[in-house]
Amino acid sequence: MRLSLLGTVAPLVASVAADHLSVTVGKDGKLQFQPEQLTAKVGDTITYTFFARNHSVTQSSFDKPCQPLDKGFFSGFVPTAAPDVAAPTTFTITVADTKPIWVYCGQVNGNHCQSGMLHAINPPPDSFAKFQTAAKTAATSTSPAGGRPVGGVRKLRVEVGKNGLTFTPNKINEIPGTVIEFGFNPRNHTVSQSSFAFPCQPLNKGFSSGFVATTKSPSGAVFQITLNDTHPVWFYCGQPNGNHCQSGMVGSINADAEGKFTQDAFVQKAKEHAVPSWIPHWAPIGGKVFVDGKEITNFNLNGGNAIDVDALQGNPSTPPPASSLPGGPPGGMPTGVRVTAAVPKPTGSPASGGPSKPPTFDHKAGGGKPTNYGWADSISDAALQRLYTLSFIEQIIIKVLTSGYDKLARGGAWAGAYPVSIVDIIGTMGAQRVIHGATTEECLEHYKKPILRECVLKPVANLGQITSFLHAVKALNALGIGALIDTTVAVAATDPWLVPLVATEIGSKARMAAVINLMQNHTAAPMPREVLIPIDLAWSYIMTHYVASCPDVIVGLPTKPYAPIQEVIKEETGERTVSLTVKYDAAGKGGQHYVAWMGSYGLAGFTPIHGGQAAVPDDMFGNVWIAVVSTPNVPLGEIGKHIVAGPETVWIKHR
Ligand SMILES: *[C@@H]1O[C@H](CO)[C@@H](O)[C@H](O)[C@H]1NC(C)=O
Ligand SMILES: *[C@@H]1O[C@H](CO)[C@@H](O)[C@H](O)[C@H]1NC(C)=O
Ligand SMILES: *[C@@H]1O[C@H](CO)[C@@H](O)[C@H](O)[C@H]1NC(C)=O
Ligand SMILES: *[C@@H]1O[C@H](CO)[C@@H](O)[C@H](O)[C@H]1NC(C)=O
Repeated sequence: MRLSLLGTVAPLVASVAADHLSVTVGKDGKLQFQPEQLTAKVGDTITYTFFARNHSVTQSSFDKPCQPLDKGFFSGFVPTAAPDVAAPTTFTITVADTKPIWVYCGQVNGNHCQSGMLHAINPPPDSFAKFQTAAKTAATSTSPAGGRPVGGVRKLRVEVGKNGLTFTPNKINEIPGTVIEFGFNPRNHTVSQSSFAFPCQPLNKGFSSGFVATTKSPSGAVFQITLNDTHPVWFYCGQPNGNHCQSGMVGSINADAEGKFTQDAFVQKAKEHAVPSWIPHWAPIGGKVFVDGKEITNFNLNGGNAIDVDALQGNPSTPPPASSLPGGPPGGMPTGVRVTAAVPKPTGSPASGGPSKPPTFDHKAGGGKPTNYGWADSISDAALQRLYTLSFIEQIIIKVLTSGYDKLARGGAWAGAYPVSIVDIIGTMGAQRVIHGATTEECLEHYKKPILRECVLKPVANLGQITSFLHAVKALNALGIGALIDTTVAVAATDPWLVPLVATEIGSKARMAAVINLMQNHTAAPMPREVLIPIDLAWSYIMTHYVASCPDVIVGLPTKPYAPIQEVIKEETGERTVSLTVKYDAAGKGGQHYVAWMGSYGLAGFTPIHGGQAAVPDDMFGNVWIAVVSTPNVPLGEIGKHIVAGPETVWIKHR
């Protein structure tokens, strides 16, 4: 009865499940694949595991045993110390047809191939012995150029939280092209990319798995990233409950073996990291999450960056209260629904071939590549210098906005200080700035220019009070606007394609200025904001106030920032700011000094300083930039040549 029932539902077309076969490479110190020969059918996978010393799995032809086959597979070399414990790196191929496949180890040191380190899949009868004989007298082995794995998946497995608050291994050396697979264990961890300087906070545009909660080990949940180059990669667990990162739950890929930037130094730095960890608001980023082999492309609820694996597997550890799941049927939602109903990620326009932008700030903005502005054949030095400066400004403001948004948002240290609608606007601003930054980088990429590397912020820039955060955002935003206006002036004739890009960015930044004014209790709308500021002044202000160090130098800018204005004291009568007292280091800079005023719509003015005090020109009001200069009445673009100190931003009250 039972058999006949099964018979009726069995598929009519015979299909045989794929097998997963295993082969060891160099086990027990032997120059040998085990098994040497095997039979596999189409669709089967074969996974090679590696033992001491330093072997490869390389496809050859039957005729040339120790030479790579054109378009054949290659694992890359896998150095490892233990003869009896498999390296965490594996190589897996999928069998595409039943033709014979010939394989060798390409290690020249010790002539592994000529010593018989050979392997075959589906060899014809009696042919393997002939293959072995030919290899004995074969020419010195070679390997595919570049050293990267091809034709299969090279994977290194890292256990997350398996033995306490650790990544195992945590000190990884791998080659480009390798998939690093992080397997999650109880309870609730992340794998998020950081920088050496700030171990427990996300790297701009870095990868992040999101919070992955599970009660099982292994859980079936993994996060995979693909290594693209040999630059050091630093990562951490961003779980703030229990301070996982600050307890040393960090790891590195291709860190220096000795010197300042080692894995051990990174662990030490994480332990000293005083600020609670956080991760991006969107997950996953820069890699893929799979639960039981099924990809989870985004984590929608709970801020978009946490999943409960038990719930996804139909076995909730703690059933979510129905009230926390908006729109659900009475009595709770079916399990598994928590990651559906995706909000679209910001993506480049497919028509322009734009790639996905890094989603951020709860996916609040999007945009395409600036292709439609019509590239010129080449780019002028003035435009290049400005693109780099704009890219620099975006990079810094994104870091500042990220830190502030995280504090203002639900669960953050400043939560409740402003209504959710205002906090959302801050998120939108951050997302727009990410898009602006990406646009600038796309212009640089188009002209095959390198992208600026990450600068490191001064710690205070991340830690301030709300008022200092708002001040920083206002100043950085105003500098961004000023530098964009300077850019239109400088490149309109030589690089006209850049003008529409600049114009659209000014619009979004001007709106942002209005909201920040409002948050600072200033009148939002009528204040002048669009103040031109030469890029050297903009750069100098940011370097002085917010940046600890930058790895790159922008050609055409000063070698070091201008001296700062240390303090500005305003003298006010009723509703009007009438004069300022400015404090700065005047040592060795004698003679008469002036305050240069840079106001809205290209307005400029110069007033002499007497006893530290300078009168406010009658027509200046709102957000104004000042600098101390040694010569009055110079054009705006030449202020840098005459500067003694500054710039600084001041709010000038008007009647
Ligand atoms: C492993 O062998 C390859 C090929 O000979 C070599 O390039 C690589 O440096 C070796 N790795 C180690 C760690 O010895
Ligand atoms: C490798 O490059 C891909 C494609 O550009 C990117 O998505 C991924 O994040 C990169 N991986 C890392 C670890 O940076
Ligand atoms: C995992 O941790 C994050 C951050 O602390 C939290 O938001 C999330 O609710 C946790 N998930 C579970 C199922 O505990
Ligand atoms: C704005 O004014 C309100 C009410 O006086 C005050 O509580 C708040 O701290 C002020 N905000 C700023 C940023 O000055």
